[in-house]
Amino acid sequence: MNKTRVLTGITTTGTPHLGNYVGAIKPAIAASQDPNVQSFYFLADLHALIKCQDPKRVEQSRLEIAATWLALGLDTDNAIFYRQSDIPEIPELTWMLSCVCAKGLMNRAHAYKAAVADNESAGSPDPDKGITMGLFGYPVLMAADILMFNAHKVPVGRDQIQHIEMARDVAGRFNHLYKGPFFTQPEAVVDEKVEVLNGLDGRKMSKSYNNTIPLFVSEKKLQKLVRKIKTNSLEPGEPKDPDTCTLFQIYSAFASAEETAELRGEYEAGIGWGVAKDRVFEYLNAHLREPRERYQALMEDPGHIEQVLAKGADRARAEAAPFMDRLREAAGLGRFV
Ligand code: TRP
Repeated sequence: MNKTRVLTGITTTGTPHLGNYVGAIKPAIAASQDPNVQSFYFLADLHALIKCQDPKRVEQSRLEIAATWLALGLDTDNAIFYRQSDIPEIPELTWMLSCVCAKGLMNRAHAYKAAVADNESAGSPDPDKGITMGLFGYPVLMAADILMFNAHKVPVGRDQIQHIEMARDVAGRFNHLYKGPFFTQPEAVVDEKVEVLNGLDGRKMSKSYNNTIPLFVSEKKLQKLVRKIKTNSLEPGEPKDPDTCTLFQIYSAFASAEETAELRGEYEAGIGWGVAKDRVFEYLNAHLREPRERYQALMEDPGHIEQVLAKGADRARAEAAPFMDRLREAAGLGRFV
């Protein structure tokens, strides 16, 4: 039986936080445990270079993200877990796809359009000021990530749906031009049930808002951050609305239905913010303690992580290399004999 192929990449520019866990890591690890699925998860470190040219940060982020996924229980005998930059076939495919991808299609990409709009509103005479070819061609690199492994499903955030559509478009052109079929048409999967967590200030938790709670900070730091979560000025004894409360939302993303119902009752009964924050901290801390220990051990053993990723790269290249040979051949770049 052919398994459904699920593939997603994580851009390696930041430190994993609670929002990443709830929104992406937890569902991805769960999906990888389905026997009908072959999952491909990778560190999108070539993508990282588009927005981050601080080598230390890219390096550190790659290690942190890999350690996080492993600490949270990703089974790498099952999921194929690799670093994008370990697969030289990916940039090669990116070039081949670039040569069949209409420039006009890339002109419509959200990230590029937003950068142009910023230049225009800043009154710059050059609408492309500061925009690199990396940013402009970003969706083609992403298409290569996906098409290389003929992924069927690509779990992503809403902001990435357009990129999957572009991958479908480019796949279709390549298939048509070189008389394929070479590529499967991928589908974006945006899980409506998966929660988008809010951050310290009540806006979406995101590294760009600087309002995150990193997953594996020390116990003390975690307590400090939970205490910083914005609440309103209601006094103890006054009933509080759990449904508009970031603290409650974070708790319910981790707690069981019963535990959540219980805290809801206490909100209605007027729990004080200090007590509520302590409750949420205790809960998170108890649940993060074990993976935090595993994370720390992994961070101290980069050799082990390197080994795990090397195994992932071998498995990924076992597919990518022969596939790339076929594509080269199709485009007239095969061997003479
Ligand atoms: N661009 C994605 C993001 O920022 C990360 C990514 C890179 C990706 N390549 C991918 C996601 C391929 C899915 C499939 O979130």
